[in-house]
Amino acid sequence: MSQALPLNTHSSPHLRIQDLNVWYETNHALRGIYAEIPTFGITAIIGPSGCGKTTLLRSLNRLLEEGEGIRVKGQVWLNEVDIYDRVMDLNELRTRVGLLAPKPYPLPLSIYENVAYGRRIHGLDVLDKGNGRNLDRKVEHYLRTAGLWEEVKDRLKAPASALSTGQQQRLCLARALAVEPEILLCDEPTSALDPISAQGIEEQLITLKENTTIVIVTHLLRQASRMADYVIFLWMGELVECGPAKELFKNPKDSRTQAYLMGKIG
Ligand SMILES: Nc1ncnc2c1ncn2[C@@H]1O[C@H](COP(=O)(O)OP(=O)(O)O)[C@@H](O)[C@H]1O
Ligand SMILES: [Mg+2]
Repeated sequence: MSQALPLNTHSSPHLRIQDLNVWYETNHALRGIYAEIPTFGITAIIGPSGCGKTTLLRSLNRLLEEGEGIRVKGQVWLNEVDIYDRVMDLNELRTRVGLLAPKPYPLPLSIYENVAYGRRIHGLDVLDKGNGRNLDRKVEHYLRTAGLWEEVKDRLKAPASALSTGQQQRLCLARALAVEPEILLCDEPTSALDPISAQGIEEQLITLKENTTIVIVTHLLRQASRMADYVIFLWMGELVECGPAKELFKNPKDSRTQAYLMGKIG
């Protein structure tokens, strides 16, 4: 039997990571991570390539497949339920904790259906009361939220593959938002984009942080300083330092954080 997640009561912190360890075969990629991710706002996970950023992000909605040489030990508490509890309903978890990947992977469907899809498979279209016009309104709303509506409103039935990479990434953002996640995980979400599209995604995420908890992985320090309210600095699989972005960027306490921020490592 699966356990339903209690609703977020907006008490902070939203996610609490407790003694989290991940191994890829014998590579101990995350080592005893403790962290709290505040409700709402943007938390940035930063650090040099290979330090474990993606691993940490994907552990937050159990996207690391266990069994293929990957082992996860520890707890991730989401509103007082450990998502690694055997009874966790993965379908519900991934609705509540969405993911925006580094590269856009739209479904081989129309623009409209890419956004409607999640609502259908998660049964949210029942809330749309099987009324096509309500689903239409939802699709429009999320395309607007992702900053794509004006560019696609006259060709909603066109295949998603006809869009540019930058548009596809905004479509994937609309698709992720359409299931109304509480937490949105973003792994280097602008890395495949031109500067203008990248700026667009940054701006959308900054708008969204008012009522969504956003966790972003980035190796771009400027992006982290533009966007983050809270920062987690990883170094060789360990959490070296975390705290409010302003403090961490201005007065890093650990010598490794200082060296990283000065561009001496990574
Ligand atoms: N699927 C995988 N199989 C084996 N090793 C992996 C896998 N994914 C990541 N790793 C290893 O885990 C460590 C952390 O990787 P990752 O989380 O991708 O770092 P980052 O996102 O900071 O670049 C690295 O040593 C990497 O080689
Ligand atoms: Mg990565």
